[in-house]
Amino acid sequence: MQDDESPLARAWDQAAAGYDDYFVPRFAPWVELAVQELGRDLPDGPILVPCCGTFPELPLLATAFPGRPIVGIDLSPGMVARASARASSFPLAEAVVGDAVEVGPEWTGRCAAVVSVFGLQQLPDPPAALASWVGLLRPGGRLSVVYWPDVVEQEGPFALSHRIRGRAAADPDAARRAAEAIAYAGAEVTADRAVSFPMEHPDAATF
Ligand SMILES: C[S@@+](CC[C@H](N)C(=O)[O-])C[C@H]1O[C@@H](n2cnc3c(N)ncnc32)[C@H](O)[C@@H]1O
Repeated sequence: MQDDESPLARAWDQAAAGYDDYFVPRFAPWVELAVQELGRDLPDGPILVPCCGTFPELPLLATAFPGRPIVGIDLSPGMVARASARASSFPLAEAVVGDAVEVGPEWTGRCAAVVSVFGLQQLPDPPAALASWVGLLRPGGRLSVVYWPDVVEQEGPFALSHRIRGRAAADPDAARRAAEAIAYAGAEVTADRAVSFPMEHPDAATF
């Protein structure tokens, strides 16, 4: 842990140790979907994965798009340490500590794809982040983003945790503003939908 880390990065450092065992299998259907939605017909170039966490996107991306650099970026050094361990089995992959909304200019207009799963909802300005990710794509490149909506369930552990923490009310326009930001940034929105999969927890204490 570094002294200059943000509280969010520190929180994810603390979650990193249990993340692969508990959440990666539960989030797997959405990760698979995000990779599938890229199709197979990408232009040349690297694939960038903002908010990669422990980088569960990597094995699927490396299988679907062999021979490409695949780079994960995450704010949390604890997550990136685990992501780097995963990347060590893939010669063209790496994970770096960084802010997903301040990706360096060296990436602008270069990426064949930008893929991000369950990170967008944590960013301070999601529409601005989406617009900045569109700017990283080269012509024909694809953006595939899965995010948590403000309300994921009416009853259940996430709904309870939402209530206990007194989170802000849901923004009914969030999806529309996200799609508009992508279109204003010059990309075409080809799919925009809510996708649910069942998720089970052994008991409240474990959750
Ligand atoms: C729920 S995890 C998702 C990890 C992985 N993509 C997955 O699907 O399992 C969210 C991740 O977003 C990262 N994150 C949050 N804000 C970020 C930011 N501004 N820049 C980069 N990463 C960020 C957190 O550190 C955390 O690892």
